[in-house]
Amino acid sequence: MVNDDEKVKTIVDKYNGKHDSVIAILQDVQSEYHYLPEHALRVVASQLGLPLIQICGVATFFKAFSLKPRGEHTVTVCLGTACHVRGAPAVLDEAKRQLGIEPGNTTDDMRFTLETVNCLGACALGPIMVIDGKYHGQMSPRKAKKVLKK
Ligand code: FES
Repeated sequence: MVNDDEKVKTIVDKYNGKHDSVIAILQDVQSEYHYLPEHALRVVASQLGLPLIQICGVATFFKAFSLKPRGEHTVTVCLGTACHVRGAPAVLDEAKRQLGIEPGNTTDDMRFTLETVNCLGACALGPIMVIDGKYHGQMSPRKAKKVLKK
């Protein structure tokens, strides 16, 4: 873990130990590990001289942060009402089939995390699947399969 701790220390150093940089620091840590490992949160707390509970508070408050290991790529299927009536459940089934996992889980090779949401605010384009922040609209199971294979 020594090397990992050094990696996190380098990230914190970039921000000159500024307390108001916690969110930016956690974003950088998450892009390094794809989630926020406990050891990293401890290093951030001790480097900033802040209580661990305060760092954990920030990490759990923002939905963009994950305390669970995540895959390199995040696949999100919207199951909000508008997407649902247009066939989102079949799109989700295809994503589950392609990735071999249930929503909320990550593939064993740590490449993909599958999740669902309840509306992405772009209902007119539904059903929507988002891969690493890129929206794919008017999804069908066949289109989902194609996109995921890519
Ligand atoms: S219900 Fe899917 S974007 Fe709104």
